[in-house]
Amino acid sequence: MKKEELAAQIAKAVVSCKKCRLCKTRKNAVPGEGNLNSAVIFVGEAPGQNENDQGRPFVGRAGMLLADLLSKIRLSRSDVWIGNVIKCRPPDNRAPMVDELRNCSMYLESQIKLINPKLIVTLGRFALEHFVKDAKISKEHGVAQVWKDRVIYPLYHPAAALRSPQVAAVLEKEFKKIPRVLEEAREMLKEDSRSSKKDNGAQISLM
Ligand code: URA
Ligand code: SF4
Repeated sequence: MKKEELAAQIAKAVVSCKKCRLCKTRKNAVPGEGNLNSAVIFVGEAPGQNENDQGRPFVGRAGMLLADLLSKIRLSRSDVWIGNVIKCRPPDNRAPMVDELRNCSMYLESQIKLINPKLIVTLGRFALEHFVKDAKISKEHGVAQVWKDRVIYPLYHPAAALRSPQVAAVLEKEFKKIPRVLEEAREMLKEDSRSSKKDNGAQISLM
């Protein structure tokens, strides 16, 4: 099956998913969207009100900031893939609960296996914690790290940048390093593949 068809299959499973309580309050689930061949993907927390209304990720104010940051490194939304760890909006934008994160995580995992990016840019605390348990965003932002056969680059969430000019300045500075981090990731993963066997292209399991 083609990548597009597999992505559509995952999206279909997401929009009909009833694995956690958030299915009762969502208007639209937000599977994620973008270039399935991108070497870099962006992972946020969960849909907000605008995303819940439209069924698309990062289309509100935080999304405008993300698009603006992307343009600073000469990328547009459609060049990359953008998604969230949680696919349905938590009421009043409350933090996701542990069981919601647990139930939803397989969708993002399937999407990552399908896209097979070199670099995963996490936006905010919950996206980072999905990959690195007990990580502290305050300590680890801006520091790329190897995760399985990929590289994770944790950044502050654009919504946090909208609340604080200090955070905005740090986010912009670190965001501008993405092209370099991606180059380093490519190099690092190339070296790695000479010394160990990879598990890329692993089967996508939806259930
Ligand atoms: N914040 C997120 O984490 N994700 C979105 O899609 C929008 C806002
Ligand atoms: Fe399913 Fe995730 Fe939505 Fe919960 S948040 S209903 S697990 S898609």
